[in-house]
Amino acid sequence: MAKQNTKKDLIMAPMPVLVIGTYDEYGVPNAMTAAWGTQCDMDKITIFLSNHKTTDNLKLKKAFTVAFATKETLVETDYFGIESGKGINKIKKVGFHTHKSEFVDAPVIDEYPVTIECEVLKLEDDDGDYRLLGKVVNVVAEESALDENGRADLDRLNLISYDSVAHGYRLLGGLVGRAFRDGLIIKDK
Ligand SMILES: Cc1cc2nc3c(=O)[nH]c(=O)nc-3n(C[C@H](O)[C@H](O)[C@H](O)COP(=O)(O)O)c2cc1C
Repeated sequence: MAKQNTKKDLIMAPMPVLVIGTYDEYGVPNAMTAAWGTQCDMDKITIFLSNHKTTDNLKLKKAFTVAFATKETLVETDYFGIESGKGINKIKKVGFHTHKSEFVDAPVIDEYPVTIECEVLKLEDDDGDYRLLGKVVNVVAEESALDENGRADLDRLNLISYDSVAHGYRLLGGLVGRAFRDGLIIKDK
């Protein structure tokens, strides 16, 4: 197979499309879109952030939520990533609704089907950029997103991912294999 060196614009794929929910000092909820994030332990996530209204809120409240963006919420989610909440209530502007998380001092945005609720473990300042480390204390989901055992079922969600080359959003595809199982056919040969 002929290979060629490329531009370094495809580093990690797929990237998630996350919506970070926080409260400011007046209790006004804010939403910000983030793609530079991942799970980094069984109950921990990390997200890389520039200086935003969200980072001000994180320093203040030490808590946040993360919702997974869907095809149905794509336009509002993109908007949450192109306007700062400094001086405007973005959630109100798009007509979304929130309620306070039962577990942390952060808003759950009702229109997203699955939301994780986190405490801030670390918010490391790296010359004005931040590495956020959060501990997941709860996951709240619409019943329609759960299977008969109460587990989140990705087939029931139109989750989107971020394509950093096309600067676009892609729909997550269907299940094509079984993890830790399908490779056994080679291992056991
Ligand atoms: C698809 C997408 C992904 C983004 N990912 C990140 C990210 O991971 N980290 C970051 O600091 N900003 C990211 N942004 C930019 C912020 O969402 C944007 O600056 C936003 O206005 C900040 O909102 P706030 O000031 O209300 O907190 C992303 C924007 C989009 C559209």
